[in-house]
Amino acid sequence: MGIKVSAVGHALGERVLTNHELAQYIDTSHEWILERTGITQRTISDHLNTSDLGTQALKNACERYEIDPLSIEAIIVATMTPDHFTPSTASLIQAKMGLNPSKIMAFDVNVACSGFVVGLDLGSALLESKRFKRIAIIGAEVFSKILDWNDRTTCILFGDGAGAMIIDYDATASACVCVNHSEGDLEGTLRACGVPLLQEEAHPLTLSMQGKEVYRFAVDVIPSVMQECATKANLTLKSLDHIVLHQANQRIMDYAMKRLQLDPSKSISNIAKVGNTSAASIPIAVSMALHEGSLHHGERIMVVGFGGGLSYGAATFTL
Ligand code: UT7
Repeated sequence: MGIKVSAVGHALGERVLTNHELAQYIDTSHEWILERTGITQRTISDHLNTSDLGTQALKNACERYEIDPLSIEAIIVATMTPDHFTPSTASLIQAKMGLNPSKIMAFDVNVACSGFVVGLDLGSALLESKRFKRIAIIGAEVFSKILDWNDRTTCILFGDGAGAMIIDYDATASACVCVNHSEGDLEGTLRACGVPLLQEEAHPLTLSMQGKEVYRFAVDVIPSVMQECATKANLTLKSLDHIVLHQANQRIMDYAMKRLQLDPSKSISNIAKVGNTSAASIPIAVSMALHEGSLHHGERIMVVGFGGGLSYGAATFTL
């Protein structure tokens, strides 16, 4: 009883913002950003909101793989930068894809940068329940609208984009094995856009992050959750063809591969060009790597998410 990946696509913010450009108006440098994060540029969406990028990514997936959008029975969107609290980004994408008459199920999940892995967990469970045959899982973010562009500790990291993966129930395919965890966080380690209970309690509309804390958390949980997922799937990490980690920081990705004694060339990375796109980073990385030929269908991969919550998870499946 398994899951077949039928299509993958992505869309990026239309404006490239380089480190050199950022250094013109905040106290930073291309060298600092590159050395500490591996990022050289990110893409910013000036005119398209999260649901627009998500729609573009899903259309890209359908066009690349010649899939009829009307065959999609559910849309799950992972995002922490939705257009609105309601309607959900998934419902907006449904409408923008012209799927209103299809009476599909559409909902968002907010698990910050782990959202796509949680979406995959939910999507594959729904397929295995046999209530659905085809589900689109989308990670979509427009982080630029919640960044404090005067805060050099956060605004240099994030970019805008969306990635989509269409998965089908296929009795002959292998399973998608997922593990997801949350530690709970009252400390505001990574927090954005609160709505106060009382109007006089103003909440900032921007992202704040205790970067060092998140870094320590990430390097601690990534190796263990990858091992947990591999054990659950009854395979070894070394047997995987590729690993796609959430693109948060090249140093975090390099550390995880080294700690697990895995071949660093098996780690897929696009952070240099795209920056950190939170819940969108994994499907964008998969889609770009498939397009560029560094990933191939039929390969066994593991995707790993971590971030606000504090949340973390891993999923392994055949691409
Ligand atoms: O996707 C969600 C999950 N998020 C993450 O996984 C992010 C995890 N955290 C990180 O990736 C890293 O902690 C950062 C990239 C955010 C920061 O890198 P760091 O190596 O931990 O730097 P730091 O915070 O220890 O700062 C080192 C120095 C400080 O100066 P002092 O106190 O040593 O004088 C900072 O003020 O670098 C300074 N600094 C900067 N300098 C130039 C901080 N940001 C910048 C900057 N440009 N943009």
